[in-house]
Amino acid sequence: MTELLEPRAIGRGLVRRDGEAKVRGTATYAYETPVERPAYAFPVQATVARGRVTAVDTSAAEALDGVLAVLTHENAERLASTDDQELAVLQSAEVAFRGQLVGVVVAGTSELARQAADLVRVEYAVEEHDSELVVDHPALYKPEKVNPSFETDTAEGDVAAAMATAHATVEQTYSTAMYHNNPLEPHATTALWDPSAEVPLTVWDSTQGVHPDRAAVCEVFGLGQEQVRVICPYVGGGFGSKGTPHANVMLAVLAARAVPGRPVKLALTRQQMFFLAGYRTPTIQRMQLAADRTGRLQAIAIDVVEQTSRIKEFAEQTGVPTRMMYASPSRRTTHRLAPLDVPVPSWMRAPGECPGMFGPEVALDELAEALGIDPVELRIRNEPAVDPETGKPWSSRHLVECLREGAERFGWADRPPARHREGDWFVGTGVASSVYPTMRMATSEAVVRFENGRYVVEIGAADLGTGAWTVLPQIAADALDVPVDDVEVRIGDTRLPEASVAGGSSGTNTWGSAITVAAREFRAKFGRDPGDGDEVSGSVDQAAMDDTRAAYAFGAQFAEVRVNADTGELRVPRLYGVFAAGRIINPRTARSQLIGGMTMGLSMALHENSVWDPRIGQVANHDLAEYHVTVNADVGDVQAHWLDEHDPYVNAMGSKGIGEIGITGTAAAVVNAVHRATGVRVRDLPVTLDKVLPGLS
Ligand code: MOS
Repeated sequence: MTELLEPRAIGRGLVRRDGEAKVRGTATYAYETPVERPAYAFPVQATVARGRVTAVDTSAAEALDGVLAVLTHENAERLASTDDQELAVLQSAEVAFRGQLVGVVVAGTSELARQAADLVRVEYAVEEHDSELVVDHPALYKPEKVNPSFETDTAEGDVAAAMATAHATVEQTYSTAMYHNNPLEPHATTALWDPSAEVPLTVWDSTQGVHPDRAAVCEVFGLGQEQVRVICPYVGGGFGSKGTPHANVMLAVLAARAVPGRPVKLALTRQQMFFLAGYRTPTIQRMQLAADRTGRLQAIAIDVVEQTSRIKEFAEQTGVPTRMMYASPSRRTTHRLAPLDVPVPSWMRAPGECPGMFGPEVALDELAEALGIDPVELRIRNEPAVDPETGKPWSSRHLVECLREGAERFGWADRPPARHREGDWFVGTGVASSVYPTMRMATSEAVVRFENGRYVVEIGAADLGTGAWTVLPQIAADALDVPVDDVEVRIGDTRLPEASVAGGSSGTNTWGSAITVAAREFRAKFGRDPGDGDEVSGSVDQAAMDDTRAAYAFGAQFAEVRVNADTGELRVPRLYGVFAAGRIINPRTARSQLIGGMTMGLSMALHENSVWDPRIGQVANHDLAEYHVTVNADVGDVQAHWLDEHDPYVNAMGSKGIGEIGITGTAAAVVNAVHRATGVRVRDLPVTLDKVLPGLS
């Protein structure tokens, strides 16, 4: 148990501290960092899906007046480490996927860099590529672990026996599409290599963590940490795609090192982001559910097939939520990967839980129908007393309360009957559960200092637009027991104490814990009347964390769907979520996170789909004209509510993390509502009208 902070500033819906700077346009993002005499870099990308570069002709590019450097694998510096093949830019002639970096041009203007990049002639020896994920791919293999370090497969009891003898079973295959993160701000970097400076490399990067970003740059370029500074005050979204640096960051640094003293700016275009900035692997999920007459699960199993790139393994932990959501004596989860000639998959909002709460939550709906049991009630009947996987007690688990309160708010009891029609529209409602683990990263450190009558807190944290600038002062204020206006928090710079990545919905938990430790030590050392310059540093360490409890945030989402009887057009006028995510530090920024996650889930349900063309090996719709995301007109009444949950086991704030849970389960709720409305069961996302229309007549 942790001694919980007395919430005074915590719990208040304070406005964003960075809001005014953003609205006025004075908040500087990585690409627009003001620097002297900037140069601009533009990538050259491979135009084959597999093969090797046999010849490069850079003469036309170099002949342009104002071109400063043209780099390819033939003349680029040799990197200190090529262990991470995604980051080993311009080190070899091999091409592992279409769009991979094969060169970069640096020039005095961005237009010139782009024009010159177009003039670089590259010849290839083309090899046959294999880029299509199929469920029975001959090269499927079992990875050693799934992300970040889970067992690949788990098994308990006898699923097959339960399937053979149960009162009701569901055995179906579900799939989720390939998705691209698509933050509003593209992946962008300004890098300056100045060998005469005390810190020779400065990188202004759009990143979810300045310290992890620096660590990766140091590794690849063989630099010491003291030689590199990474700065990132603001991020225009990441959704995981800036959680670990991608090749573009290394390319920017490589380009900067080729023109010492000149700062180099590199921003990926939207189209380039579809090749180089990570994406969520498509998944194929074979589900098995078996239940007795009362709806109690006798077996739950998920067998996942998904893809990875050949050059770097990424094993999405899709089966992991099935291990802990519901009670069942027999359980099985497996993961198999197909290594393909494709870009490297990576983190995207709720990796694992987001795709992994689709198949199971739709299968439960199918089971409810088979049993004639209400789908809310079916979930409640399978509530586990302890974590089924580990046997640990829950730090707190209020899924049932979320389901009940959601049902109440939504008016679930009065839901329309199946295939209910109002005029030209079929109307239906659906439900699904949400979950996300409560994580705290390995280590973070914070400094608290008394300076000119105010408390200054320093920590190299990141604000992706999530609200760290605003909520960290709230935590610090309560830990110091002072008004929040007396606290200034500085983040986003490796000169500040080392902070963990803003990932896994862990930022507020980890940084807030470090700040609390530092603040408490500060009070213990200097009392309530500190002197100017008094300073304490405090840190948290995962090893010291209480892991005797299984800690997760839970939620329930309810969707109302309307399907046009003639056209199959789908609308979602209502989407309600109720969450139990520990103490909510700031209701204003929290609501934004939860509604944002749910909206992204709605987008996944109806729109998002990176359409893979296996003939040429690339995403066909690689821009925002054709990769559709939910826009304002698609969003009806989206509501996020939460229970008043204070979890004393997770951290001093009692908070669980809210960045990702909102996207989990949403697509299943929508699909379940579509089925209720139309009788059409769509098992492959997204739910587009072509999949629904044939079943409407
Ligand atoms: Mo999030 S996908 O863990 O950055």
